Amino acid sequence: MSVSPSSDTSSSSASSSSSASPSTRPLRLAVIVGSVREGRFGPVVARWFAERVQDHGAFTADVVDLADGPLPLRLPPVPPAVDPDMPRPDGMADLTRRLREADAFVVLTPEYNRSFPASLKAAIDWHFTEWQAKPIGFVGYSGGTGGVLAIEQLKQVFGELHAHTVRNYVSFPRYYLLFDEEGNLKQPEEPAGAAKVMLDELAWWADALTAARSERPYAG
Ligand SMILES: Cc1cc2nc3c(=O)[nH]c(=O)nc-3n(C[C@H](O)[C@H](O)[C@H](O)COP(=O)(O)O)c2cc1C
Repeated sequence: MSVSPSSDTSSSSASSSSSASPSTRPLRLAVIVGSVREGRFGPVVARWFAERVQDHGAFTADVVDLADGPLPLRLPPVPPAVDPDMPRPDGMADLTRRLREADAFVVLTPEYNRSFPASLKAAIDWHFTEWQAKPIGFVGYSGGTGGVLAIEQLKQVFGELHAHTVRNYVSFPRYYLLFDEEGNLKQPEEPAGAAKVMLDELAWWADALTAARSERPYAG
């Protein structure tokens, strides 16, 4: 099997998009393009995934490309966990606003040396409350592992930020064999199914956590 949807049949018990509460729909989903590498493949994955979000219907997708703004490694003395409004570089305001406005996230991550790219870690570390009490899903792509090692490490990091990472994910091992030269999947059904299962789970959590955050401030 060339593409590895993460779910087994038990995952199909997750709420479908049509059965969840419509009160908070459409939910705002920030789809984060984690790679900023020259010649990167990330935008191809982003285009494919944004179409899956549109097909699913529970979310409006905001594709947030980390290559569009500054992500300096040098952080200010007071971290965002202590000062959520800490001074940030001028060019980062748009990223911060879009993360803050999101009800849920899907992080598109390649794998670099068995982990996720430094660009993603910088984007994560510059923020704190923006991730808090929100659900996060993942699409991984790389060589043999399909990004699953990066995804596992991201789950650990996001736990520290009081985010909820969902179980289901999408993985493209040896992605270069799976997409054609126009950036279309040669066999789209299975990854589309995996994306739907993940989005179903993400929508359930986004509904629940959006309602909870609107009722009272997160107490973490
Ligand atoms: C610095 C670096 C390290 C990499 N390490 C791994 C790795 O550990 N495992 C893997 O499966 N692929 C690895 N790759 C292959 C990448 O996953 C692949 O090049 C992918 O296209 C990167 O995503 P991007 O093009 O969006 O940046 C590595 C690539 C780079 C540039």
